[in-house]
Amino acid sequence: MAPMWKLVAYVVLITGLFSLTESQEDTEELPRIGIIGAGVGGTTTAYYLRQLFGKDAVIDIFEQERVGGRARSIDIDGFEYEAGAAVIHPLNTYMVNFTNMFGLQRNEASDERIGFFGSDGMKVETSTWTAVTMAKLVWRYGYDIVKIQNWVQDSLLKNFTRIYKVQNDGIAFTTVEDMLQAMDPEFVRYTHTTIMDLMKEQGFSDIFIQEMVHAIMRNNYGQSVAMPAFVGAVSMAGAQPGLWSVKGGNKLVPEKLLKKSNANLINAKVTQVLLQKDGEGVSYEVSYKNPDPENKNQEENSREYDIVVIATPLPTGQTDIKFEDFSQPLPFPDFKMHETISLFVQGYLNASFFGYENRKDAPGGIFTVDEDVFFNSVEKQRPVTFKEHLKKQDVEEEVYKVFLNRVPTEPEVRLLFSGRKDLRLINWKAYPQYSTNMELPPFVLYDRLYNVNAVEIAASALEMSAIGGRNVALLAYNHWYGHLDKIDEVSEGETTAAKQEL
Ligand SMILES: Cc1cc2nc3c(=O)[nH]c(=O)nc-3n(C[C@H](O)[C@H](O)[C@H](O)COP(=O)(O)OP(=O)(O)OC[C@H]3O[C@@H](n4cnc5c(N)ncnc54)[C@H](O)[C@@H]3O)c2cc1C
Ligand SMILES: *[C@@H]1O[C@H](CO)[C@@H](O)[C@H](O)[C@H]1NC(C)=O
Ligand SMILES: *[C@@H]1O[C@H](CO)[C@@H](O)[C@H](O)[C@H]1NC(C)=O
Ligand SMILES: *[C@@H]1O[C@H](CO)[C@@H](O)[C@H](O)[C@H]1NC(C)=O
Repeated sequence: MAPMWKLVAYVVLITGLFSLTESQEDTEELPRIGIIGAGVGGTTTAYYLRQLFGKDAVIDIFEQERVGGRARSIDIDGFEYEAGAAVIHPLNTYMVNFTNMFGLQRNEASDERIGFFGSDGMKVETSTWTAVTMAKLVWRYGYDIVKIQNWVQDSLLKNFTRIYKVQNDGIAFTTVEDMLQAMDPEFVRYTHTTIMDLMKEQGFSDIFIQEMVHAIMRNNYGQSVAMPAFVGAVSMAGAQPGLWSVKGGNKLVPEKLLKKSNANLINAKVTQVLLQKDGEGVSYEVSYKNPDPENKNQEENSREYDIVVIATPLPTGQTDIKFEDFSQPLPFPDFKMHETISLFVQGYLNASFFGYENRKDAPGGIFTVDEDVFFNSVEKQRPVTFKEHLKKQDVEEEVYKVFLNRVPTEPEVRLLFSGRKDLRLINWKAYPQYSTNMELPPFVLYDRLYNVNAVEIAASALEMSAIGGRNVALLAYNHWYGHLDKIDEVSEGETTAAKQEL
């Protein structure tokens, strides 16, 4: 743990002791809580805070744009398509449980053929015949193609899923590092070594890493095999069999969580978090205004809270939320967001660009293996409500989603598509720009001020935000009532070390 965060953790521990005596005096006192951001992270936090504090706690949630955040769909020709987070892993327990709990249905991932494309053409593609596919893949990548599934499943996912038991036991972590440590001590190292180096260490071949793994990193995070191994492993899991999405759109999960939490949604942009009262019984003033710059009513309002939760990324120097009157710099992670362009094209793939005579011969998913190719992937899309789509007979043009790291030029679009009816573009501040030098940040920014999105520095995914959200709900609750035994499971040795450093 970085020394400064140890200090923060320790200060929180001390103030936690104060609230212990406080809560013994007045067990009836409930906090007023403000959450900033209604994506999966913020709405999961709201859901668990409601469970923990009960129906009478005040929970407000601020959202400047749309509930769901990066879980969002886009309408093309009367059908909705996933525009942000699209796939969910079968072992993503929170996403699975929420989907079941709300009676939502699943769409299984499409079984389209896929191909790996480089600047010198198609490297390898799958067949509709499983045996042929296996033969082709084994021919190119050897036994790695089999080994990869076991490696992701047994070495990574098995230990990752330990977090669910820990959270069900009510245990919370002060830092992302402590959380990863509890899953598997190796995971902390995985954030400081590249996925390329880890896989080499595990005996995977160069060609497999440079082609298949690289293409998966480019598709899922717009980045390369130089990404840290932890997020790289999450990305590999996002290429396993059994992936699914929520019928009607993944954004239905945060929408239902919000409703179930009975939190008060405030459609506004938060501009400032002011530390109002410090020390014992800290409180915050949160200022907000109408999110529409055209709106004439630009006066600022404010509300007071005992607990504030940040549930949106705060990239260095790029956030417009001001944090005022703190006596020390807050331990925000230092990072930039990676820009990913989701380009939707309703039209016809230019088969000859990919080396095919007929359009129907081209695979439905094309993933690119080298940096020289100007796009990361092109994938044929299915609407979030597949059944209705089948009824519609007159859809001729397919809808494709292209991921790129920059806005394409018109000639580039015309290389990929020989004709089109519609084109839409979403410019995402998508996920962190990852590096192995990043320090794992704390969830605690200050006494009773929390950062759900600290978890994204380890890996950005719907399930990660849900885990981060539940962790922050548990932290806030354990701090409020002084349940220090349920924080960090700090061993005797570590506590002494922290004291000595002070
Ligand atoms: C193109 C793309 C593809 C992806 N694919 C996948 C995938 O297949 N599977 C997967 O699991 N994950 C995927 N992800 C990652 C996933 O979308 C995110 O990790 C997850 O949605 C983050 O949720 P969140 O709640 O932490 O943040 P967000 O969803 O970003 O929510 C933050 C919310 O805060 C609001 N907000 C921000 N500032 C303020 C303010 N000042 N005042 C009020 N409100 C504010 C925002 O409007 C936003 O709604 C993808 C992401 C992108 C961009
Ligand atoms: C899972 O974590 C435990 C320690 O907590 C470790 O002994 C084990 O090797 C890990 N499993 C794998 C497959 O890495
Ligand atoms: C998910 O749901 C299952 C079945 O209802 C339950 O046993 C499990 O505890 C839930 N997991 C979490 C992490 O809430
Ligand atoms: C399609 O691809 C071919 C081969 O790369 C290219 O010459 C042509 O300009 C592209 N566009 C169209 C509209 O055919």
